[in-house]
Amino acid sequence: MDYSLLWLDWKRREALPSYTGTLCGEVKTGEGKAALRELIAGFQAMRGRAPTLSSQKESPCLRLEELEGPGEGFSLLREGEGMRLRGCGKGLLYGAFYLLRHLALGEDFPEKTSSPAYPIRMLDHWDNADGSVERGYSGNSFFFREGGPVCTARTADYARLLASCGLNGSCINNVNVKGNALYLLSGKYNKELREIAACLGEYGVALWLSVSFSAPMELGGLPTADPLDEGVRAWWRDTCASLFAAVPNLAGFLVKADSEGRPGPHTYGRSHAEGANMLAQAVEPWGGKILWRCFVYNCTQDWRDTKTDRARAQCDTFAPLDGLFRDNVYLQAKNGPVDFQIREPVSPLLGRLPHTNSLLEFQLAQEYTGQQRHVCYLPAMFREVLDFRLRHREEQDTVAESIQAVTAVSNTGDDYNWTGHDLAAANLFGFGLLSWDPKADPAKIAREWSILTFGNDPRVTETVCRILLGSRETYEKYTVPLGIGWMCVPGVHYGPSPEGYEYDRWGTYHRATCRAIGVERGPEGTGYTEQYAPALAAQYRDVETCPEELLLFFHRVPYSHRMKDGRTLLQRIYDDHFEGYEEAEEMARAWESLKGRVPEDAFRRVQERFREQLRSAREWRDIINSWFYRLTMIPDKMGRTLYL
Ligand code: GCU
Repeated sequence: MDYSLLWLDWKRREALPSYTGTLCGEVKTGEGKAALRELIAGFQAMRGRAPTLSSQKESPCLRLEELEGPGEGFSLLREGEGMRLRGCGKGLLYGAFYLLRHLALGEDFPEKTSSPAYPIRMLDHWDNADGSVERGYSGNSFFFREGGPVCTARTADYARLLASCGLNGSCINNVNVKGNALYLLSGKYNKELREIAACLGEYGVALWLSVSFSAPMELGGLPTADPLDEGVRAWWRDTCASLFAAVPNLAGFLVKADSEGRPGPHTYGRSHAEGANMLAQAVEPWGGKILWRCFVYNCTQDWRDTKTDRARAQCDTFAPLDGLFRDNVYLQAKNGPVDFQIREPVSPLLGRLPHTNSLLEFQLAQEYTGQQRHVCYLPAMFREVLDFRLRHREEQDTVAESIQAVTAVSNTGDDYNWTGHDLAAANLFGFGLLSWDPKADPAKIAREWSILTFGNDPRVTETVCRILLGSRETYEKYTVPLGIGWMCVPGVHYGPSPEGYEYDRWGTYHRATCRAIGVERGPEGTGYTEQYAPALAAQYRDVETCPEELLLFFHRVPYSHRMKDGRTLLQRIYDDHFEGYEEAEEMARAWESLKGRVPEDAFRRVQERFREQLRSAREWRDIINSWFYRLTMIPDKMGRTLYL
């Protein structure tokens, strides 16, 4: 098994339907040709013999019918004993992968008519020009080496992987633009960028770049980056004109402005709309788009200040600007109001931009969710967010229906298995499928991924799915309780440190005493709850109706608070931590039971990761529980060990 192919390692299948022996029809576009290439290679791998090609219609065959246009949808229908795949070039590509996947899953005639929910479905890489990856847990960058961009064989493998699960865009450099990444705009790397863009483009994947808002100063030597300054506008216009002309398939820019020390329009007393619109005008002649991040908050807060609430910041900043952005601007908001914690409410901002394109950002890189050393299957969480009703409207009210695009911070690197933890590849696959169809079922995704990856041994499939599907709740139980967030080691964000962020500048406090914990975010507190639609605000502001898993996100609560099942809050925290660790042990045992059933190298790699997960989970359990015990001096009702 070649694990570097991930879910594209097509395995031999007995008794394939006979149409896989012949391919007919003609394809013209690059993507159409890629579709044909994939079908030939896929059928060959599954059959053990190459299919024949014919320009005539033969029966039974797989007939490709390429339409003209940029459309991404496809229809795959039965035609007698054969099948017909119809679509524009990109559609054929997605349809081809759909067919191959479903043949590999054992279906003979997987009929489907489908088109993607969003026109932009992408990955954000936090890759730096020096080859390192910010929050990267699977090796170094494969886009950058020795200070500059490179196009390698992995770029092509990557493009295939993205297309095979429905993704069509990739922003290859870190939102924190530093070092040589600045020069991506300058023309210095046009040759490399052109190569990368062409390689991605063969598989329908557009290239995006992160840019620095102050590039006119850093690169252009101008005295200002004021978006209303004529010189600045002209600089961006000219820079875009040469870059877009030199790099076909460049789709636009991603910008982190006025965020965590990054430059932005606020420096010049201008709004985010003025900043984003200026760039939008510069890229417009090239059909370009601006993805403008909303991750804007005060990151130099004084912990003594109890009025400022980081959770409020994005809505406070961006909701009043709704409707002021140009059509080619997308506001990119993280799924929660703070920062990719294991449990956060859905960001209220997602419901507050009805007149603006919005782009939902998830994080596949498991920065706060175990850093690809712990198993944490995320598609179920993504689906929860996408399905969430924002309660602003009677209809078309879910997050999935309120956004226009999706992206995720990538979890890939140059590790042989791409994602560090072999099981983390399921997150990448799952995100792709959900970006195409936000109603895709996370349990089904897990099953498909397991079969495509490890083959069709029911015991393996059942065990892998059991591990994946319980993993998020397990991780949550042994780490940070009930939405409170943080409590991790500052900087690295791995391992427990209950007060690590308590007296820091990042605006992430729990303010625990011996009696109570949490920040009150109802109207008597910071008022964050009131950023939601009235029905949700009412639900969240009341401790009784607030969802329990988010209790400590929304409220300051005494440890004696009764949970719905009668336990005290403190006892619930103790119980979760003991249970969470036991569940982690159970997952590790389940994996052990697959020895000999999954390829030995993958088995070993995952076994190693489980060792680390258990070590770390034990630290989390004992440090969090002991910390609460020391603070409260209330023992565990069950008499389990807590440390003084
Ligand atoms: C987190 C993360 C940073 C990242 C930032 C962002 O805070 O720790 O590394 O730069 O998010 O999303 O911009």
